[in-house]
Amino acid sequence: MTPPKAKVLSGGAIQPAVDALLSGDVIGMPTETVYGLAGNAFDPSAVTKIFAAKARPSFDPLIVHVPTTLNSAQSLSAARILDGSRISPDMAKIINKLAEAFWPGPLTMILPKHADIPDLVTSGLDRVGVRMPSHPLAQKLLTECGRPLAAPSANRFGRISPTTAEHVMDELGDRIPFIVDGGSCEVGVESTVIAVDEDRIWLLRPGKIGMNELAACVNVPVVRAPSVHEKASPGMLASHYAPKKPMLLIQDWNQLPATIKGKSIDLLVTAGDGSKELQVLKTKAIVPGRTAFLSIGSNPKEAAQKLFAAMRDLDSSSSDLILATSVPSTDGLWLAIEDRMRRASTPP
Ligand code: TXA
Ligand code: MG
Repeated sequence: MTPPKAKVLSGGAIQPAVDALLSGDVIGMPTETVYGLAGNAFDPSAVTKIFAAKARPSFDPLIVHVPTTLNSAQSLSAARILDGSRISPDMAKIINKLAEAFWPGPLTMILPKHADIPDLVTSGLDRVGVRMPSHPLAQKLLTECGRPLAAPSANRFGRISPTTAEHVMDELGDRIPFIVDGGSCEVGVESTVIAVDEDRIWLLRPGKIGMNELAACVNVPVVRAPSVHEKASPGMLASHYAPKKPMLLIQDWNQLPATIKGKSIDLLVTAGDGSKELQVLKTKAIVPGRTAFLSIGSNPKEAAQKLFAAMRDLDSSSSDLILATSVPSTDGLWLAIEDRMRRASTPP
């Protein structure tokens, strides 16, 4: 028996997805970062379906997506998403400044959770991740459902995040009724995740919105949370976003690991035209099966957009492993690209 295939809803015809969400089902939703697997955030049984479809461990909390009307600490509290009694005036000021500067857009803020948000959503934590996506179809779904939508990336746990409706079909097509097709994701890597305290901001996951941009918006320090810090996202597991075959992130092309001997390889060129790396491989009589170029002009926006699709493509080839070049800098979006590539790769 062939498993049932999700129906792809194109051209903005989202009504069947809205009906499914209101009846407690989960669906594929486009956002500007990656596709999400969405369900009614106030419905514990819908949230359970999200964890089940992804095979996601229950200790890894979900982000709650909100419509553009909920653009302040006050409105999020009134909507029973945040617990206003645990938000001081100073903290509210920071939240509102960040919301004004970066929402709708790829920023998730971890904030004191209202009791009405099921503990399942936050894996028992007393804070909830809130994000206002800018993709028009995500906003249309949120408005027409009239409910906040909990949504992790729409991949099976630990796998590469999807940036097209087709990727969602490959990952979860046998487990969900609908995928709303919103085209290729504009940003390509997941949102920046921060925890907001009243005297500082912790960067938990790098994304398009960088530390400098955040720091320029508020007058408290922005610090990177160490991965073992209590505030670190449980989702910051070392291995994540990973292809099925080994991917090796090569820092020094003059010292290729011995493990590649006799293996067939694909090449992922993160920035530039890869001429240096191809030359090294040539001296070792290695001809890559497939080569993917993320941005020949070394533009991080372009590289981020193409990253996950390229990893998926190389993963589907018959080669044994992927060799990837490292990022040219760790500024801005390159930091997010480097973070995802490091988690996707096999330790040397
Ligand atoms: O761009 C995105 O953020 C996408 C789209 C679909 O919105 N979503 C996404 O969700 O990437 P997910 O579940 O794949 O990643 C969410 C990250 C995880 O690392 C999770 O551990 C962290 O955010 N997170 C969520 N809620 C948290 C909380 N209450 N405390 C700490 N970390 C949290
Ligand atoms: Mg994810």
